[in-house]
Amino acid sequence: MKVQVKNNVNWVGKIDWELRKFHGNEYSTSRGSSYNSYLIEEDKTVLIDTVWSPFAEEYVNNLAAEVDLNKIDYIIANHAEIDHSGALPALLERIPNTPVYCTANGVKSLTGHYHGDWNFQVVKTGDRLDLGDKELIFIEAPMLHWPDSMFCYLSGDNILFSNDAFGQHYASEYIFNDLVDQNELFSECLKYYANILTPFSPLVIKKIEEFLALQLPLDTICTSHGVIWRENPAQIVERYMQWADAYQENQITIVYDTMWNATRVMAERLAEGIGRADPEVNIKLFNIAGSDKNDVVTEVFKSKAVVVGCPTINRGILTSMAGFLEEIKGLSFKNKKAAVFGSYGWSGESTQILAESLQQAGFTVAEEGLKMLWKPSEQGVAECIAHGRKLAEVLA
Ligand code: FEO
Repeated sequence: MKVQVKNNVNWVGKIDWELRKFHGNEYSTSRGSSYNSYLIEEDKTVLIDTVWSPFAEEYVNNLAAEVDLNKIDYIIANHAEIDHSGALPALLERIPNTPVYCTANGVKSLTGHYHGDWNFQVVKTGDRLDLGDKELIFIEAPMLHWPDSMFCYLSGDNILFSNDAFGQHYASEYIFNDLVDQNELFSECLKYYANILTPFSPLVIKKIEEFLALQLPLDTICTSHGVIWRENPAQIVERYMQWADAYQENQITIVYDTMWNATRVMAERLAEGIGRADPEVNIKLFNIAGSDKNDVVTEVFKSKAVVVGCPTINRGILTSMAGFLEEIKGLSFKNKKAAVFGSYGWSGESTQILAESLQQAGFTVAEEGLKMLWKPSEQGVAECIAHGRKLAEVLA
């Protein structure tokens, strides 16, 4: 499939409707994804990025139906991760000496993955590639989100090829941002930012400011996942600037796990107390064992505070909660408060473990936590509600 983006620029990627897990098992993709590859046919013919390796043969065959592969003058590898470089080995078997333009770190990553003796051409920010009337300008984007990541910009058509940045895991036959459901689109954009880009937020702001300082006109952003931003591309740039700036809404998210419902009862009564004390705050509860952890991370991203609960088991916490806390730690959230709670039968270490983990993850743990022996009695329920009232103030 080939779709015209603008003038001599065409999308030649792959829509993956079946994808449900990405990065191994780390990221849920309930709306599928796409691997966007672009063909520019000016005086010179350029291919920007490829697709994930399971689709390599299909991709190369489709590409060969659209263009004589031997006419491809340059391949641009904006990013070495396998979802974009996965078809390079199959493609370079057909056109082995074609130059592959990438960053110095791109050479390391691509060689590390494929061990190919390829014709690498290393580029850095500001380097240009003459295509005839137009040119490609390269912009390194290290750690957005890998060391090798790079953008490139096509003059004349004013297109930024941003690779992972501004993308979403969102399959659509319609490809362009103005043709898809806007709620679905921005929901996937936010999930993508929260789960993938949060740790790199300071770099996001810096890179956007650096790009804006170049004063290059921007008509279109061609991402490597999801839609192409052709209508008001500035809107996603503006959202990124907001999200990167320690974003939060008036929301408290309660995340818990439970063995025999004691900690669940605590969670629900804490929510009741918070809601009674502050009817303005948006409260969401998730049992992490039965929830999509990437959706919960997205809710944490939106929150001003989290309240995390788990019972004690074997002097520790449940593995579902431990995995979630590990995920949270890696994301380096900024400017968020936290509180902890949990039921226990005898030793009762869970609240301390939760508090320490959240502190290590960068949260300000606002209070000592609420521990409750066995299942809350009528008096215990009242204590939970009262504690929730207190949390509404402490976590404000
Ligand atoms: Fe879409 Fe970092 O790969």
